[in-house]
Amino acid sequence: MAISYKNLGLVNTKEMFKKAMAGKYAIPAFNFNNMEQMQAIITACAETKSPVILQVSKGARDYANQTLLKYMAQGAVQMAKELGWENPQIALHLDHGDTFELAQSCIESGFSSVMIDGSHHPYEKNVELTKKVVDFAHKYDVTVEGELGILAGIEDEVSAESHTYTKPEEVEDFVKKTGVDSLAISIGTSHGAYKFKPGSNPQIRLDILAEIEKRIPGFPIVLHGASSVPQDLVAIVNKFGGKMDDAIGIPEDQLRKAAASAVCKINIDSDGRIAMTAAIRKVFAEKPSEFDPRKYLGPARDSLKQLYIHKIKNVLGSDNKA
Ligand code: G3H
Ligand code: 13P
Ligand code: ZN
Repeated sequence: MAISYKNLGLVNTKEMFKKAMAGKYAIPAFNFNNMEQMQAIITACAETKSPVILQVSKGARDYANQTLLKYMAQGAVQMAKELGWENPQIALHLDHGDTFELAQSCIESGFSSVMIDGSHHPYEKNVELTKKVVDFAHKYDVTVEGELGILAGIEDEVSAESHTYTKPEEVEDFVKKTGVDSLAISIGTSHGAYKFKPGSNPQIRLDILAEIEKRIPGFPIVLHGASSVPQDLVAIVNKFGGKMDDAIGIPEDQLRKAAASAVCKINIDSDGRIAMTAAIRKVFAEKPSEFDPRKYLGPARDSLKQLYIHKIKNVLGSDNKA
């Protein structure tokens, strides 16, 4: 039997994006696979009163078990209330869904939002697949994110050598034909920790974003691959035995500009992974006799929470919006 996200205390992204558009900020979309990540997200968002999108990738679903993840999201809503967040604005979102069947399964099992990523297909096939998911999702009041353009790097099992920027001339037709609620675009961001070549000037194409905004004014835009790869955290990883040479991300001032435009959702995963890894490596190096997982996962969780608070307040501007 299908479970509605409404019974889990979750919300879809419609109102979140409407307010983010009007208020010139963006909603954080943080990926999670485990309890410490979930705790960090919820405590950071409850403390800052930020709406949030909990993202589950196909890989996360395989790693953690989709039923467990769904109930973790339900638990997160209850935990947020206990922390004094009266009306938590929390969405549970499928990240990079690649088939209709996967999107359907998530919709029927309590997700409030899904991404159908048909960006690697030819345009007409992308339209057809996205529309099929939208038609199904909207029957359940679930919101849908589509994607046009291809990000360089790896997205689940698919990888691309270089960016294929979103063509502004396609967006209006895509949005009209599919009925999607938001659109992920490719403007020079990419997944992972190695987004730019060393010595290059890390820049995203805010000019293409402006052109897209002109074609579909007021329509919610999504940025994937938006980690900034904080150099202080990379330095800790490397100091304590890690090897993350030449890891470079998106400058935060550029994300801030994007958040003040039609960009309503910013996806951050890699920065959290780096924050956790830095904290864990530090404990392992400084306290080699420690073997209680709470003694290294606890500091990793604390570091993650601080990172999220920083993103919410200083990059996305979503604090006190929920
Ligand atoms: O877009 C990719 C996200 O960072 C999720 O990554 O597929 O390794 O869980 P994953
Ligand atoms: P990062 O790898 O830049 O954190 O991007 C995450 C993402 O886009 C998830 O869909
Ligand atoms: Zn992504």
